[in-house]
Amino acid sequence: MKPFRWICVVFLLALPLTAQGEYKTLDELTKAYSVDKCKSCHGTVHKEWEASYHSQSVVHSLGGIRNFIVVGVGKEYDEPMSKEHLLRCMGCHAPQIKDASESLAKEIASLIITAKDAKSRSKKNAAKKKLAKLNVNCIICHNTMIKVAKNVRGDPRPGVFYGPKGGKSSAHKTEKTTEISRSVFCGQCHGIYTPPDGDTIGCNTLYGSYQDAYRGNGGTETCQACHMGKKKRGHTFPGAYQVGIVKEGIGLDVQAMGIKLHPGKWIPTAIVDIGLTNKAGHRIPDG
Ligand code: HEC
Ligand code: HEC
Ligand code: HEC
Ligand code: HEC
Ligand code: HEC
Repeated sequence: MKPFRWICVVFLLALPLTAQGEYKTLDELTKAYSVDKCKSCHGTVHKEWEASYHSQSVVHSLGGIRNFIVVGVGKEYDEPMSKEHLLRCMGCHAPQIKDASESLAKEIASLIITAKDAKSRSKKNAAKKKLAKLNVNCIICHNTMIKVAKNVRGDPRPGVFYGPKGGKSSAHKTEKTTEISRSVFCGQCHGIYTPPDGDTIGCNTLYGSYQDAYRGNGGTETCQACHMGKKKRGHTFPGAYQVGIVKEGIGLDVQAMGIKLHPGKWIPTAIVDIGLTNKAGHRIPDG
């Protein structure tokens, strides 16, 4: 009996996911959420994800987050930095920080300031390198954010990867979920955010325009259909920085008509009607 219990304990500790633990160092936190180990079996997906902005969701937005910490919290709220404050941005930019201890959250906040404000380039780069390990990765989307279905299936379970097919694997547990293929899954981060105190954070409002302007006018595609499924975009998630998809979003409709008739006269002329239409599933640009 005893050896069996040991095996269970070791197995639980070795789960790739955090349970509800609080991590005290950045190394512990990023290790628990590391996705390096997914490479060996999901190589293509990993490569695509690495090339996407989801893999840079902190370092690519560093300036704005630094301003929130220094100006927003420091001057406007006039309060000391806390984990709760940091999650106002990181709830979407790096949700794993929910599992950081209060002191680690503060350490991450000072790393962000160092990465922007340090005088020495090497100090800046060292801070950036550490922060680059915080991002929206496989575990965030395939476990943490499955909380979108909390009402139906409860909290996401540690160690389970939820996917559209739930294909079986001996490497880890999987579970089929239809929610990951719905727009509201993306809308959790690509829309207005309400932190626990009821404040409103409007970092981006794209999901609102998808609902009202696109679905409201009869649009039927999901975010996943346009950004992943079509053209086999997979996990690259192209957006405003990729010419291909930007072109797709802007329709050019030219209608020219030759007219030669004016009352009583015959004047060759033409009417050219140029229409620029938005073919994306939401307003562009976002903001
Ligand atoms: C509801 C989720 C959410 C919250 C909360 C949030 N963001 Fe964002 N943020 C996003 C998403 C999604 C994008 C990418 C949007 C796009 O490009 O259309 C983004 C983009 C950004 C960018 C621009 C990156 C670029 O393309 O140059 C900055 C800067 C930024 N966020 C800073 C912040 C700060 C500062 C906070 C906290 C006050 C914050 N965000 C809170 C989701 C969020
Ligand atoms: C921004 C969220 C997001 C991130 C990050 C993400 N995925 Fe996905 N993934 C999805 C969604 C959404 C689908 C389902 C797409 C659909 O329904 O068409 C999916 C589908 C999959 C599938 C099944 C379909 C396929 O393409 O084979 C696998 C396997 C998968 N992801 C693995 C990964 C791995 C491994 C990583 C990290 C390297 C990762 N995902 C990162 C959102 C994400
Ligand atoms: C030893 C190989 C192996 C490793 C390592 C591995 N996986 Fe998988 N994974 C599989 C296999 C096999 C399947 C089932 C078939 C499929 O969907 O590709 C699967 C399925 C999945 C699915 C479900 C896709 C669906 O069918 O809906 C997700 C999500 C997923 N893996 C994510 C991950 C993540 C995240 C990691 C890293 C933390 C990881 N996997 C590491 C082999 C592996
Ligand atoms: C956990 C939060 C989160 C989830 C879930 C999420 N995203 Fe994102 N996404 C972000 C953040 C944060 C950024 C911005 C990264 C940056 O540039 O700093 C981003 C960037 C993007 C971009 C590139 C934006 C640009 O300006 O080019 C696209 C496209 C995108 N996401 C689509 C999706 C789609 C589609 C889904 C659903 C399948 C999804 N995202 C799910 C947080 C999320
Ligand atoms: C009908 C297809 C379609 C649908 C549906 C769709 N998108 Fe897009 N999306 C596009 C195109 C095309 C672009 C490129 C246009 C541009 O950015 O100029 C784009 C751009 C984006 C960008 C970059 C925006 C920017 O300019 O900063 C993000 C982020 C994004 N989409 C996320 C989403 C999310 C999240 C959903 C679902 C709520 C969604 N999209 C639904 C086609 C679509």
